[in-house]
Amino acid sequence: MSRGFFITFEGPDGSGKSTQAHFLAQNLQEEGYSVLLTREPGGTALGEAVRGILLGKDLQMSNETEALLYAAARAQHVEEKIKPALEQGKIVICDRFVDSSLAYQGYGLGLPLEELKKINSFAARGLRPNLTFLLDLEPERGLARARIERGQMDRIEERALEFHSKVRHGFLDLAKQERERFCVLQIADMSKEETAAFIWNQTLNLL
Ligand SMILES: Nc1ncnc2c1ncn2[C@@H]1O[C@H](COP(=O)(O)OP(=O)(O)OP(=O)(O)O)[C@@H](O)[C@H]1O
Ligand SMILES: [Mg+2]
Repeated sequence: MSRGFFITFEGPDGSGKSTQAHFLAQNLQEEGYSVLLTREPGGTALGEAVRGILLGKDLQMSNETEALLYAAARAQHVEEKIKPALEQGKIVICDRFVDSSLAYQGYGLGLPLEELKKINSFAARGLRPNLTFLLDLEPERGLARARIERGQMDRIEERALEFHSKVRHGFLDLAKQERERFCVLQIADMSKEETAAFIWNQTLNLL
C-alpha cells in the first residue's frame, strides 16, 4: 500500500516520545527527507476532538468505550493523514500508535489482547509500522516528568502506579514478540541528546 516509511514512538507517559519524535523529524528534514510528524490520539480534527474526550475527566467511560474511541480516532488518522503521506513516499513519524492501545487497554486495563488486535487492525486497515522506538523508563519517573512539565495529570495518567507498571511491562512484552520491528531504549540514564543521537543512527541504518 505504501512507498514511504512508517516510524512510531511508544513508551510510558513522560518517557520522552514527543521530544524524540520532534528531534527525529527535524534531523530527517535537514537531510532533505519529506516528513509527516503526527500524534495519537489526535492527528486530525476528529482525532483531536476524541483526544479531548479520552483525556478529559468529565465523562463516564467504560474500558471497552475507551478502547473503541482510541481505535476510532486511529481509523480517521490512518485514512486522512498517514496513508496518503506514505503513498506520497513520505516518512511518517507517529507519537504513539496501535502498541499503545495494546499496552494501556490490554495489559493495563486487562481487555483481551486478541480482540484489541482485531479492532485495531480494522481501524488501521492492517497498516503496521516499519520501525518502532520503545522508550522504556520506570513509570514513577515518567509521571513525575509529565507532572513537572504540565502541572497536572490527564485521566489516564491519573491511574494508579500499578496500572502504569502493567503498561510498561506490556510494552516490553510486545517488543519481545516482534524484535525485528522494535528498537528498545533504556533511557533512564540518557540525556535527550544522547537518546536523539542513538535514534538518529538507528534510523539511518534502517531507512
Ligand atoms: N532524556 C531526558 N532526560 C531528562 N528529561 C527528559 C528527557 N527526555 C525528555 N525529558 C523531559 O521529560 C518531559 C516529558 O517528555 P515528553 O513530553 O517528550 O514525553 P512523552 O513521552 O511525549 O510524554 P506523554 O506521554 O505525556 O506525551 C519533558 O519535560 C521533557 O523535556
Ligand atoms: Mg507526548
